[in-house]
Amino acid sequence: MASPDNLTKSLMIQTATHAYPILFGEGTLGAVDALLAPYAKGHQIVIITDDTVAGRYLAPVQTACERLDKIVHVVCVAAGEASKSFTIFQRVCEEVLAFQPDRKTLLVALGGGVVGDLTGFVASVLLRGLPFVQIPTTLLSQVDSSVGGKTAINCAAGKNLIGSFYPPKAVVMDIATLDSLPQRELLAGYGEVLKYGLLGDAAFFERLLREGEAMLAGDRALRCDIIRYCCAMKAAIVEEDEKEQGKRALLNLGHTFGHAIEKLAGYGGGVLHGEAVALGCLMAMTLSAPDVTEEEVDGLRAHYRAVGLPCRMSDLQADVVWDAGALTHACYGDKKASDGGLTFVILRAIGDATVQKGVDAARVQQIFEQYQ
Ligand code: NAD
Ligand code: GLY
Repeated sequence: MASPDNLTKSLMIQTATHAYPILFGEGTLGAVDALLAPYAKGHQIVIITDDTVAGRYLAPVQTACERLDKIVHVVCVAAGEASKSFTIFQRVCEEVLAFQPDRKTLLVALGGGVVGDLTGFVASVLLRGLPFVQIPTTLLSQVDSSVGGKTAINCAAGKNLIGSFYPPKAVVMDIATLDSLPQRELLAGYGEVLKYGLLGDAAFFERLLREGEAMLAGDRALRCDIIRYCCAMKAAIVEEDEKEQGKRALLNLGHTFGHAIEKLAGYGGGVLHGEAVALGCLMAMTLSAPDVTEEEVDGLRAHYRAVGLPCRMSDLQADVVWDAGALTHACYGDKKASDGGLTFVILRAIGDATVQKGVDAARVQQIFEQYQ
């Protein structure tokens, strides 16, 4: 069996009900058998991936799984947000059931946040719960979606409205997979990286303003360090509040604005989740005035321009009429909305987020107009 010696770092995440490791390394995919062995207790493994990731990374993962003397199956979905749908969820469930899994059958999510969220949701319902492992291959999934146990699909009413809290048995990342990630996808993930600094760590935010461009340019040591830092921040929040009864909501900074943008674009309609969140973070800073100053918003805007993140909705690659009224209306469908009012994560200062209920809809609409 291949040795996991090339694993450089790991973190444990310990919630009230579950503990699982997050393993970081370079070139780990080929040695993933050693890492998966403790969780592959049945005679079958099902790898769920998308058609882009499959072309690049399925072979080493599949070969490694076969070294465990298991029957290894593959289920492949189309790349992109549109696969987080009821139709694809049903198809994946039926394909996995056709392999006659038992409760020890391990599901392996190989891909970005779409594959991770979909596989996690499938794992949470099949036979009332199958073990699953996340192998995230995008920056966004490495810093955010693979950690914390949120699973979901989208529906007409909104994004991620159907899902469960269902933690993986382990998260195994290979930083080298980021080398093949298109720049636009890398940037979308970087939007979520900046979010961590904004919501909880001003020094980390300042560091990103200094080192973010080098990280995006491909500095692997920096990537590994920053990804691990984000995972540690997320782990600390999830350990305190796994089911989002309080503090975890802060991780949704920028998401109420962002989800409204994604909803109007149509899921898979040209706007990437991370792009929508990045723009949503700028909007949330504007909503945070006067605690956040216009100079501070301008500072982040200048960084977005320098790296290539969108600063307004017209920068997004979507053919959509950005109707501010419809966008505001979409915010009412957010999971944080309560008692019919609007709830947003805002900043008391950079690095200090809070949840604000009862936000004035007219102000939200004004911000959507301002960012057209
Ligand atoms: P994604 O899964 O669609 O991946 C982006 C694209 O990159 C896809 O086309 C994919 O095929 C391709 N790709 C993946 N890895 C690659 C690689 N190494 N090289 C080349 N191409 C590669 O998108 P994403 O940004 O990873 O995830 C977005 C999703 O994550 C959204 O649905 C969002 O709601 C969800 N999300 C979930 C959580 C959570 O806590 N569960 C948190 C944040 C986001
Ligand atoms: N990405 C938000 C969360 O995991 O809670």
